[in-house]
Amino acid sequence: MPVINRIAAFQAEMVAWRRHLHAHPETAFEEHATSDFVAARLKELGIEVHRGLAKTGVVGTLVNGDGPSIGLRSDMDALDIPEANSFEHKSVTPGKMHACGHDGHMTMLLGAARYLAETRRFRGTVRFIFQPAEENEAGGAVMVREGLFERFPVDAVYGMHNWPGLPVGTFAVRPGPMMATADVFEIAVTGRGAHAAMPHLSIDPITTAAEIVGALQTIAARNTDPLEAAVVSVTQFHAGDTDNVIPNVAVLRGTSRTFRPQVQDMVEERINRIAKGIATAHGATADLRYERRYPATVNHDREAGIAAAAALQVAGEAKVVRDMAPSMGAEDFAFMLKARPGAYAWVGNGTSEQSRNLHNPSYDFNDEALVHGASYWAQLVEQCLPADGAR
Ligand code: NI
Repeated sequence: MPVINRIAAFQAEMVAWRRHLHAHPETAFEEHATSDFVAARLKELGIEVHRGLAKTGVVGTLVNGDGPSIGLRSDMDALDIPEANSFEHKSVTPGKMHACGHDGHMTMLLGAARYLAETRRFRGTVRFIFQPAEENEAGGAVMVREGLFERFPVDAVYGMHNWPGLPVGTFAVRPGPMMATADVFEIAVTGRGAHAAMPHLSIDPITTAAEIVGALQTIAARNTDPLEAAVVSVTQFHAGDTDNVIPNVAVLRGTSRTFRPQVQDMVEERINRIAKGIATAHGATADLRYERRYPATVNHDREAGIAAAAALQVAGEAKVVRDMAPSMGAEDFAFMLKARPGAYAWVGNGTSEQSRNLHNPSYDFNDEALVHGASYWAQLVEQCLPADGAR
């Protein structure tokens, strides 16, 4: 079965929703108008709506008899990026844009909600979970902490993200890691400031921090098993205010990404030892702040198989990629997968064009993907919550 015909029939309406959402981006925990829009669409469909988890979160519940329950999750937030596009549905809010396609994610889930509310070819309970603040602020974790799954129980939870580089109509899902951890670190190197013409009177935090930056590269290159994955990227180097003064302090910041807890522990330990060891060698001190932000997004084996089977029904065998390499990016759906069994899948957003790259100022969600993603959600529900009650 290709895309579901009934869903294809309201493609134009989904495109209108998607473009409305694209034009009105809101960022972390401030998705008020977005939340209003989503809640209004769900209510129009007769779906029971709860609001307020993680401030702007929305949970729709559609019950059709006794049976299992399933959670389907979409993110809602945009990014602090000035949009470079000039098409009609470009962002009306300066400095903010939907550059990650969460406008498309909401629309696909609303499309599936419409189909499921109309056709009700399932038996059980569907939870439509719309979460704020996926980018950086872990809105998904906040919803879980505020009792998402206690108040709205599910047997399993599924997530989906558009994926540039995958052709439209193609899905990718695999057991195990899909996305990496996102940890952040800050190293404050304290030396002793002095006149720049008299460096012998200083303990130079800049040359010391520069050595640390270089040595941190050995963590991935020399300390990590070549068959494992680790990234350590220094992304900020702050020191000094003028030409002729060696400052007291240099501050480095960056991010590290891994899949496995043992590797994550090793990376944190090595950053600490390298920073402190090099600082000590130069008579300086280094203080490390290391924060584990997002865990790795790890699919449960059984649910990854269920997700692949649903994608197969929609796209056909040739368009379901089961062995795609995971991404070193991160995703706060990880917190939901730690709380309940589930799986996270990618839906193709098209190939080649720069405008399809996530977090790019020219990005736009590909409207052609809407019917595929919505059909996948609908298929997943009909498969996990069969109308005849058989499991
Ligand atoms: Ni995203």
